[in-house]
Amino acid sequence: MTALPGICEGPLSHSIPGRAIRGGHLEVVVHDLRDHTHDRHRTVDDYPFGGGAGMVLKPEPIFECFEAIRADAAARGESIDEVVFLTPDGERLAQPLVNRLSLHRRIVLLAGHYKGVDQRVRDSIVTREVSIGDYVLSGGELPALVLVDAIARLVPGVLGDAESALSDSFQDGLLDAPSYTRPAEFRGMRVPEVLLSGDHARVRDWREAQRLEKTRVRRPDLLDFDPGVPPSRTDHRTDT
Ligand code: ADE
Repeated sequence: MTALPGICEGPLSHSIPGRAIRGGHLEVVVHDLRDHTHDRHRTVDDYPFGGGAGMVLKPEPIFECFEAIRADAAARGESIDEVVFLTPDGERLAQPLVNRLSLHRRIVLLAGHYKGVDQRVRDSIVTREVSIGDYVLSGGELPALVLVDAIARLVPGVLGDAESALSDSFQDGLLDAPSYTRPAEFRGMRVPEVLLSGDHARVRDWREAQRLEKTRVRRPDLLDFDPGVPPSRTDHRTDT
């Protein structure tokens, strides 16, 4: 649910999210809050009571939009599992939360804009507030797209075996090993010999050692890590 649906077009039509959607593994519907207004100017925001800078998203379009989404789900015998509001004051997004959200069948994402949204929306519709980091963006659209991208990678069938999400950094709590491709020597810089050796066991050990060392140096905090849900999820829906 957004007042700026145009922001979402590019990111949802490219790369892995685009492929997931085209392949029918994932459905993303962008709902324009202006379609749920009833005045000539299609007003979605208003001045804050009590004064202050910035505009606040009005409750009516958001409630009506959400109720339409919920009714559509109900007509298919389904319900909304989670309503996520993207906001800098939410829970910080990390892989364990992405993993948990990826297990849901239907989630609604609410992108706030301007100064915020009417608190009554947060009190009665929103079930979870999520931040993508300790910095302030102009709205929740980019954070919502970040969440969609992270979830899309986990939907069964989206990634092939070779690019399996299980090898992503963070999925097992370690950063990735360095990658190289041809040529084996470029401007005097050589690819580590072990990667050219064809010895799979040595390559595996080298990568593991690289991952551990990089994680120890850059992100020692990751070394006590809880994946949230086990990465080998056999309980995920298979009927997409
Ligand atoms: N909206 C504005 N900034 C945000 C952030 N950092 N995370 C989530 N939503 C936001």
